[in-house]
Amino acid sequence: MNVLGIETSCDETAAALVEDGRRILSNVVASQVDVHAVYGGVVPELASREHASNINHVVDLCLAQAWKGGSTWDRVDGIAVTRGPGLVGALLVGMAYAKALAFALEIPMVGVNHLEGHIRSVPLEHPEAELPALALVVSGGHTSLFHLEDGNSCRELSRTRDDAAGEALDKLSKALGLGYPGGPVIDRLAPLGNPKAVRFSLPRTKGAELDFSFSGIKTAALRHCRLEGIQPVEPGFAKSPERIPKAMLDLVASYQKCVVDQLLDRIEKAWKRRDARSIQISGGVSANSELRRRAADHFRDRAPVYFPSLLLSTDNAAMIAATGHRRLAAGERDSWDLTAEPNLPL
Ligand code: KG4
Ligand code: ZN
Repeated sequence: MNVLGIETSCDETAAALVEDGRRILSNVVASQVDVHAVYGGVVPELASREHASNINHVVDLCLAQAWKGGSTWDRVDGIAVTRGPGLVGALLVGMAYAKALAFALEIPMVGVNHLEGHIRSVPLEHPEAELPALALVVSGGHTSLFHLEDGNSCRELSRTRDDAAGEALDKLSKALGLGYPGGPVIDRLAPLGNPKAVRFSLPRTKGAELDFSFSGIKTAALRHCRLEGIQPVEPGFAKSPERIPKAMLDLVASYQKCVVDQLLDRIEKAWKRRDARSIQISGGVSANSELRRRAADHFRDRAPVYFPSLLLSTDNAAMIAATGHRRLAAGERDSWDLTAEPNLPL
């Protein structure tokens, strides 16, 4: 069964074709980074407009790449589309498109939870990853830890009380003039600084040890900038690290270390309490090289740690197609009045 996935929950317009929930035939992601970078973050209205103008082209390209023969619609058996959580206007573009296409092609369509998509991105590439598992979804909009019991049930153990980890990286980067999105920039610059130069403490989340919190470290970093006289650099400096002051590189390295420390601390605590045979980390921040290296080191000889490939770490539609496949293969479909849910829970 060939499922066309469509993802427009934030600032990537994405389409993918996945065969039998496993084999990725094509995976197209049109990033809007350049549009939003000038504003230092995603502007929801601009995101919706960009999705509306890009989606036709992205889906055409996705079909052409899958079968080299252009728009061979008759080989698409079902459509899976992200219905939340995300920006409502952005979600609506993907959903309206998916519904129209499914209606015209007379094929079924299902709505998919974006977070479930991120979780699925790991077994999609690592079918050997064993359950039960601890699954951390860590992105620009979410930081949540789940216990996956079997293929069908998943329990949220904790989530962030304030900012998501990616949001914390993006906000520091913006404050330092290093650009948007901040995660990849900080990932690149951190090895040039001393991670022990600035001391950040792990937040204590009273009453819920597994909860995350990232707003305190952001405030501490901004205070450090004021005290040490660290001024934002000029646009473009992120590409020339030799022009970035040492004090800023040290701050960036210490900050990233502290974000990773907290993520590992919560997984470790959950590991002690829950039965798990693997650890699965997904979402945009899972692309982070320090997180990848340290998570594998930390759990060495105790549990295998799985990450999606870099392309499947950040938002994509292959994970949405793979997630929708199960319901579509079971003959299920959603009705045409399915709505976008900006706060859809898992
Ligand atoms: O999953 P995603 O594409 O979108 C959401 O669902 O939010 O995640 C985007 C987030 C951004 O905050 C971005 O800065 C972060 O992922 N990110 C990274 C890296 N690549 C993307 N954070 C740290 N290191 C990276 N290499
Ligand atoms: Zn995402």
